[in-house]
Amino acid sequence: MEQDVTLIATAAMGLESIVAREINQLGYEAEVENGRVIFQAPVSAIPRCNLWLRTGDRVKLLVGRFHAATFDELFESTKALPWEQFISEEGKFPVSGKSIKSTLYSVPDCQAIVKKAIAERLKLKYGFAGKMPETGAMYKLEVAIHKDEALLTLDTSGSGLHKRGYRVGQGDAPLKETMAAALILLTNWKPDFPLVDPFCGSGTIPIEAALIGQNIAPGFNREFDSENWNFIKHRFWDEAFEEAEDKANYDQKLDITGSDIDHKMIKISNDNSKEAGLGELISWKQMQVKDLFIRKENGYLIGNPPYGQRIGDAKEAAAIYRVLGRIMQDHPSWSVYIMTAFDEFEKQYGRNATKKRKLFNGFIQTNYYQYFGIKEKGEQ
Ligand SMILES: C[S@@+](CC[C@H](N)C(=O)[O-])C[C@H]1O[C@@H](n2cnc3c(N)ncnc32)[C@H](O)[C@@H]1O
Repeated sequence: MEQDVTLIATAAMGLESIVAREINQLGYEAEVENGRVIFQAPVSAIPRCNLWLRTGDRVKLLVGRFHAATFDELFESTKALPWEQFISEEGKFPVSGKSIKSTLYSVPDCQAIVKKAIAERLKLKYGFAGKMPETGAMYKLEVAIHKDEALLTLDTSGSGLHKRGYRVGQGDAPLKETMAAALILLTNWKPDFPLVDPFCGSGTIPIEAALIGQNIAPGFNREFDSENWNFIKHRFWDEAFEEAEDKANYDQKLDITGSDIDHKMIKISNDNSKEAGLGELISWKQMQVKDLFIRKENGYLIGNPPYGQRIGDAKEAAAIYRVLGRIMQDHPSWSVYIMTAFDEFEKQYGRNATKKRKLFNGFIQTNYYQYFGIKEKGEQ
């Protein structure tokens, strides 16, 4: 029988429930616990979650969780964990750390103690007299202490899952790919409906929408640290990549448009979508929002316009929102979703949102204003 492991999917604040939903759709039962998404799953879930999660930041393997209010407790409990089951003889295991509201507050000391405890155990198990070689696969380890409870995890992803491998260029304020995917998954958009982002910048929202629309696994074109871990049978990776290939629906027609006032952004968007393997699937055009002309029905406008936060920019942002509100007033069948940190967005747009959701774009607190089109209102 395949061994079960405990996994933690990390997520930006506010996105935990969407990440949990994605994990549930992959067939595992995830719970949101103190802002973290945690679940038990067979080892084969590690490749699958890394390949498929669109909104999670990383997939971590929980190796141990224990009370630690003294360095001795931290050392002994760490050493008692079966590290040799996960870390191979030559494995590199750099230790990072954090400590919040805990007796052990010196993070460098906690990191050093954890490192020493694991090295001692592995030396004994693998029969090394001197230092561990640390020349092989990467096992990024974290000790996170919260209210004297230590959590020891190994990062199965490596670089964050937002790094899909397609971003060859970017503008000044690109959205993280994971956030762009969340903005789409928070709507009821289906691949048959038109989707427009009139502030597309480097194209993140349209590209993520196209990946969702054709059911392309977002991690298909990148590598993960745990691909090199011995304890995960290579067959699981092969099967996960095969599954991703089988499930992609390249025949799905899409009607996705990205536009931006800046022609440089359009060139970047085009390059990024080609790199993502989407060819000519998305229509890109240089255009100011005031020239947005909508012909179809039941579409979705999803955008991350300028927030007007730099000095002197607020007026410009307000004017953009007013124009957008006026244009969309004539298209009641469309649903409009706007992420912005601009406090008076609704006032400028001219209507109160059907729904609002607080989201963090990096460190900036924003609101996601959601205006349901007639069709969506009917479905409520
Ligand atoms: C916050 S950025 C969008 C970033 C984008 N979501 C990404 O991931 O790269 C806002 C974009 O709005 C564009 N913009 C500013 N004023 C505009 C206008 N009047 N009409 C259309 N686009 C505009 C800017 O050129 C910029 O690329």
